[in-house]
Formats: sequence, structure tokens, C-alpha cells
Amino acid sequence: MRVKVGIIGCGTIGSQLSRAIATEMPELNLVALSDIKMERARELAQHLPIKPQVLTTDELIDLVDLVVESASKEIAAEIVEKALKRGKDIMVMSTGGLLGKEALFSLAREKNCYIHLPSGALAGLDGVKSAAGGGIDSVTLTTRKPPAGLKGAPYIIKNKIDLNSIKEEKSIFEGTAEEAIEGFPQNVNVSATLSLAGIGPQKTKVRIVADPNIDRNIHQIEIEGKFGRLICMTENFPSPSNPKTSFLAILSAIATLKGITARIKVGT
Ligand SMILES: NC(=O)c1ccc[n+]([C@@H]2O[C@H](COP(=O)([O-])OP(=O)(O)OC[C@H]3O[C@@H](n4cnc5c(N)ncnc54)[C@H](O)[C@@H]3O)[C@@H](O)[C@H]2O)c1
Repeated sequence: MRVKVGIIGCGTIGSQLSRAIATEMPELNLVALSDIKMERARELAQHLPIKPQVLTTDELIDLVDLVVESASKEIAAEIVEKALKRGKDIMVMSTGGLLGKEALFSLAREKNCYIHLPSGALAGLDGVKSAAGGGIDSVTLTTRKPPAGLKGAPYIIKNKIDLNSIKEEKSIFEGTAEEAIEGFPQNVNVSATLSLAGIGPQKTKVRIVADPNIDRNIHQIEIEGKFGRLICMTENFPSPSNPKTSFLAILSAIATLKGITARIKVGT
């Protein structure tokens, strides 16, 4: 049986996921697209080899078996709640929107549904999850980005940071993952995903460095606990259409969907 999928948010990630589903995942049937800018969803639908319907968020959730959220932190929790209440599985990209919403994970268990969280632009989350079982003392994420990748972030605007004047690497933020997501909602979903896998958003420390001499988004996680120490670094190329989104984040979403199709194949 093919799984009916709908994508909410047809920007950089949603567009590439649509193409990957349409061309590489015969087990998934992309039946619907939605976007706050409906013309974006219509345009994407026109350029796909299949013809998904363009629907409102609510109509889409009603129609599909699996909802893909690739829209915004602001509506992620609302979409997850609606999907779960209607017994639908969901894959979430805007993981920052789930911080402080632990009740949604209980709801998923109650409804026997899955919330899929791709590893995004990070590697090493398998180790973080394993380490959490034995006790973690500290988790630190250091994110380095070209200044352009931080443009428009609320923290940058509030603190009047002139990104154009940064000529050498500069540490511009240090705080908890919770604070990082508030200040940089589109830039550090990785810190939210890391928090959810490890010791939570209040204990996870985040440092953000603007570096004009790099062309990649570099994330380094460092964890210490009963198991020992884990250090893992990824050097990500930004996606051409959105410098805030690393190409690996898109690939991780595709890999997560392929993992779901693999389970369908073996009938679990
Ligand atoms: N988990 C990760 O590692 C990771 C990595 C990169 C990006 N992200 C997050 O994934 C999301 C999508 O990223 P992107 O690069 O595709 O962004 P994008 O800006 O290219 O696309 C977002 C799309 O969602 C639409 N949208 C915004 N608000 C909406 C709403 N309320 N309802 C419906 N549609 C809405 C926009 O019109 C746009 O078309 C963002 O929240 C981003 O922060 C997560």
C-alpha cells in the first residue's frame, strides 16, 4: 500500500523533498502540497512529474497518512498537534518549534503515531541518544556560519549587529539552546534537534560564530558523560536557494523518508 504524503511548506526543503518523493520513492504517493503562499505550492505542483493537489493545511492533514512539515517554527507545534489528533504520522523540519512542547511526544504515544525528526545538518545524534541512557554531564554546540547565513535573525536585529562589518571570525552569541532558537529561529534548528536527543534546551549550550572566511555552515558538538567524550563536526555547504539551510539537512530529510519506505517494504 502506498503511503499518502502531504508537504506543508514549499520552499527550499519542501521543493527538494517533493522532487525526491516523486522520482525516487515509489512507496510514497505525494498527494498534496500546502504553503502560506499558495502560489508557491501551485508552481511547485506544476513542475513535478506527478500532480499533487494544492490544499489548505487542514485539508492536507485530513487527506494524508504522513504529514511533512517544512514551513516554520511558528506553526510546527500546531501542525504536529493537528496531525497527531487525527492519527497521522508527521516528519518535522522546524524542530525549534517543538521545544517546550513535550506534551506532543506523549500525545504521539497515546495516538500510536510517529513524530519523525531528521538529524538535519548534524551528525552524531546516534551517539548522543545512546549517551543519554547512561547520563550526560554537558552538551555544547558550536556553530560557525558565513555572516550572510545569519541575516535577518531576531537576535542580530535586536542587538543591531552589523554583519557586513565583520571581517574576522567573531563570536556573536553564547547561551542555551532555548535562547538560541528564540534568537536564530531559522539558523539553529540543529540546537533544537540536539536538545531533544540529549539533555534538553535549558542545559544544552550553544555558541554561534560569524566567520566571513568560510563558505560552509560548520557545526561541532561536544558531549561529556558517563560514557566518555564525543566530538563530532560537520562542514556543510549551504543550499543554493537558502543559505540558512544546509544541503545535508535536505539530504537527512530524504534519508528519513527513505527509512520510512524501507519499513513499508518489510511490512512493519
Ligand atoms: N531540522 C533541520 O536541521 C533544519 C535545517 C534547515 C532548515 N530547517 C527548518 O525547516 C523549515 C523549512 O526550511 P526551508 O529552508 O525550506 O525554508 P524556506 O524559507 O525556503 O521555505 C519555507 C516555506 O514555508 C512557507 N511557510 C512559512 N510559514 C508558513 C505557514 N505558516 N504555513 C504554511 N507555509 C508556510 C514559506 O512560504 C516557504 O515557502 C524552516 O523552519 C527551517 O528553519 C530545519
